[in-house]
Amino acid sequence: MKQVQYNGLTFVPFISKEEIAKRVREIAADIKADFDGTVPLFICVLNGAFPFAADLFRAVDMDAEITFIRLKSYQGTETSGKVKEIVGLSEDIKGRNVIIIEDIVDTGHTLAKLVTDLQQKEPARLKIATLLFKPEAERNGVKPDYVGFSIDPRFIIGYGLDLDGMARNLEDIYVLKQD
Ligand code: IMP
Ligand code: MG
Repeated sequence: MKQVQYNGLTFVPFISKEEIAKRVREIAADIKADFDGTVPLFICVLNGAFPFAADLFRAVDMDAEITFIRLKSYQGTETSGKVKEIVGLSEDIKGRNVIIIEDIVDTGHTLAKLVTDLQQKEPARLKIATLLFKPEAERNGVKPDYVGFSIDPRFIIGYGLDLDGMARNLEDIYVLKQD
């Protein structure tokens, strides 16, 4: 792993693909233990969570389904980052065991709104798996059930996480270099 540059910013190695793979296997084992005997539905939150979802879903050694949603944010004069609606959830989740897959929980705004919306659809259980967690998020009343790595509030990229759409295809996770 070496430094990478995007938009003139320098990023340094933070979490290797081997460390990621190890945590993915551990979380998969935890989910299997918690949901044994059921057929859970994973909901991958696009775009950022797709590499984590692909790896986690294949690592969970049980019958399961996966679907994909995007969250649409308010535009223009509204506060950016505020979640408006869920796009693409066609499945009926009433009475089902549902596991949300997120790439990162930062302020928790995104997840708080998503959880509220999904709870109204009356799933039997609703759990949250996130690869990365900036613990500040708990202030919004959101606490993920499965966390890959708890990290300081620094900006990171790679393995799905982007800087203006770039860097999602890095296999490792990098953090913005501090001067
Ligand atoms: P929230 O602040 O928890 O609502 O997070 C909103 C979204 O911001 C996440 O789903 C990510 O797409 C993005 N995000 C938060 N922190 C980072 C970061 O360090 N790198 C790249 N994207 C991030
Ligand atoms: Mg996201």
